[in-house]
Amino acid sequence: MQTWTVAVANEKGGVGKTVTVINLGAALYLCNQKVLVVDMDPQANATKGLGVEVPENAPTVYDLLDPQTRFVARDAILPTAWDGLDVLPSHVDLSGAEIELADVEGRENRLKEVLTDLSGDYDYILLDTPPSLSLLTINVFSYARHVLIPCQTHPYAFAAMEELCDTIAAVKDAINPDISILGILPTFFDSRTRVSQRILNLMREDDRYRDLLFKTIVRANTAIIESADARRPVVFYRKSCYGAIDYNHAAEELMARVLSSQPVGPLAVGSAH
Ligand SMILES: Nc1ncnc2c1ncn2[C@@H]1O[C@H](COP(=O)(O)OP(=O)(O)O)[C@@H](O)[C@H]1O
Ligand SMILES: [Mg+2]
Repeated sequence: MQTWTVAVANEKGGVGKTVTVINLGAALYLCNQKVLVVDMDPQANATKGLGVEVPENAPTVYDLLDPQTRFVARDAILPTAWDGLDVLPSHVDLSGAEIELADVEGRENRLKEVLTDLSGDYDYILLDTPPSLSLLTINVFSYARHVLIPCQTHPYAFAAMEELCDTIAAVKDAINPDISILGILPTFFDSRTRVSQRILNLMREDDRYRDLLFKTIVRANTAIIESADARRPVVFYRKSCYGAIDYNHAAEELMARVLSSQPVGPLAVGSAH
């Protein structure tokens, strides 16, 4: 099985990263894909949003990052209520990992070292990232093949995106030559406000972003907030709401984009013959 690794990132908070990870994971699952969500945000909202309670003392991604760890990735993976949609949970202590890893050689590759083992176990590994450019996000970028950028259709969203694109370019040069931006997913679109439409038009007209922009636009939808409260992805919580429809479309578009991208690494060599 070819495993595709997709980081969902944006240095801004509250742009829909976690909701995107949870719902793309669930929508891909509905398309018969085997999915792992890796929660790299110490707030653990992706873990909670998939309805997963981490048993006390169970290993989490925090334990895996410790160079002296006795755990492998499979020890920490937990099932969700949906068979074939799994979570590698986060822990609040993850916020200290940056300092703890400060003196570790190869600290930006720790996640990659522990997740490489999972290659072939899943069709998709989706990674949620914290809302700041920290060592955790760099670890995600050093491992992921693709980056999906949720971008609010709000003013100021542009500036943050430019910074993120620069960061990814720097990571590509220095750490992970295989990384590429899979696309930009507009979120929180509200057709009643002129500003949403204006920002979307700006993105469509910008040479840097035009080709990256997903056709799917995720609309602002209160059912998404309710589903978070119910700790279920909205695609399961209310199948016919805008949020569910939009994320199901986004998952189809993601699969099409991923499959038309070039495989890299050892599998690419194999598939060339
Ligand atoms: N399309 C949407 N419509 C309405 N609310 C949304 C939408 N996407 C996300 N939210 C809500 O906005 C808040 C921030 O979303 P979240 O995914 O946690 O952002 P991030 O992970 O980027 O910080 C959450 O309360 C979430 O439920
Ligand atoms: Mg989040």
